[in-house]
Amino acid sequence: MKHIIGFAGSNSKNSINKQLVKYTLEQLDGATAELLDLNDFAVPLFGVDLEKEQGYPENAKRFLEKIRSADGVVISLAEHNSAYTAAFKNMFDWMSRIDRKLFNDKPMLLMASSTGSRGGASVMAMASDRFPRHSANIVAKFSLPSFNDNFSDGSIANEELNEELKEEISKFKKALQ
Ligand SMILES: Cc1cc2nc3c(=O)[nH]c(=O)nc-3n(C[C@H](O)[C@H](O)[C@H](O)COP(=O)(O)O)c2cc1C
Repeated sequence: MKHIIGFAGSNSKNSINKQLVKYTLEQLDGATAELLDLNDFAVPLFGVDLEKEQGYPENAKRFLEKIRSADGVVISLAEHNSAYTAAFKNMFDWMSRIDRKLFNDKPMLLMASSTGSRGGASVMAMASDRFPRHSANIVAKFSLPSFNDNFSDGSIANEELNEELKEEISKFKKALQ
């Protein structure tokens, strides 16, 4: 059975992106799914001096190992000021130092959601451009705008958007085979 990991690019306890990842993983029947939380992998603020003095943090190695041992990756990025959140960027920076090809060519469903109407379009564009340079194999993409209007009780309330996600999940599943 394929093993999928999912996580949000956020350290918010009530992360809307984590809720979207959870909903998405629930639909991956026929695979085992593991929902990760950046809060369980605390790492210090990346800096080249700290890296020289102390090496790589264990939690960055652990997180990278989670990606390496998965057959596919589901990510939903939160957008802060049109970019990655500091929490995600920090983990990304550390992992990229350990292994530049950190996404290991695993099929990826890349998502973003925000409370605004653009649904994290800027961070989605940023990741779409950058992740492949770290060996991400982005096979499906989905953005959920205006989260509070379109998501309730653990699922996407807007039928059109829900169908859109289902199509992307199908593409992702196909790539896993
Ligand atoms: C510092 C900060 C900056 C934000 N910048 C943006 C932004 O650029 N675009 C956007 O759509 N939402 C922005 N938001 C609102 C986020 O979409 C909202 O907080 C969302 O819940 C973040 O996702 P998360 O809950 O998964 O952390 C910002 C929120 C914060 C706290």
